[in-house]
Amino acid sequence: MARRKIFAGNWKMYTTLQEALDLAKGICAGASGVGDREVVIFPPAPYAKAVADLCRGSNVAVGMQNMHFEQEGAFTGEVSPPMVRDCGCRYVLIGHSERRHVFGETDDLVNKKVHAALKNDIEPVVCIGELLEEREKGLTTEVLRRQLDKAFAGIGADYMKRTVVAYEPVWAIGTGKVATPETAEDAHGFIRSVMRELYPGDTADVLPILYGGSVKPDNIAGLARTGNIDGVLVGGASLKVDSFLEIIRVK
Ligand code: PGA
Repeated sequence: MARRKIFAGNWKMYTTLQEALDLAKGICAGASGVGDREVVIFPPAPYAKAVADLCRGSNVAVGMQNMHFEQEGAFTGEVSPPMVRDCGCRYVLIGHSERRHVFGETDDLVNKKVHAALKNDIEPVVCIGELLEEREKGLTTEVLRRQLDKAFAGIGADYMKRTVVAYEPVWAIGTGKVATPETAEDAHGFIRSVMRELYPGDTADVLPILYGGSVKPDNIAGLARTGNIDGVLVGGASLKVDSFLEIIRVK
């Protein structure tokens, strides 16, 4: 079963406006020859519209790094789903490890945001992953199962065709300690098996599952050769045109 291949860059709270535009320009120019791979960039929210305008007509899509679940309201500092769309974003990151562990986002909040994204025709990239201490205690599969169960509670199979999962072990994010291809592949295989239990038919077979956590030009090849890793979510190495292009062009 052919699955979408997605190569995504999460710029986090980095770049000035000018740097964001230069980075987007370089990525659009370099991403034209990547065939059927989807390239998605997640700039900081205030630059999303300008970056999306610049990317129009290229094969680079733009996403928001976070979003509130309500359509509108008295939620100072938050970004609504209609605002995400107005900014030209097709994707949104939901439940990134930094949202969960720095800002205290719960599985319940993640679920509300997944519902809101899909209802508003925005593709959620739902991030899950275990802490180092959870892995060391042998709790990885338990944590992943709980995060998946909760994130997708009440989401019908139809919606799953427009959903992406990103496996990002917390111990690998921003640490330089990438998961080995074997470790990542094990987790991805497990995630797909849980999704097979949650959804009938071919839902789990077509679901793109991305790996994230210290992906760099020098470790992408091993990850790309596995069977269940359908792309990557890149932080640090997506902030330089050359390193991101090397990653998205992996053979
Ligand atoms: P990193 O970040 O590539 O810098 O480890 C990945 C992420 O947070 O999505």
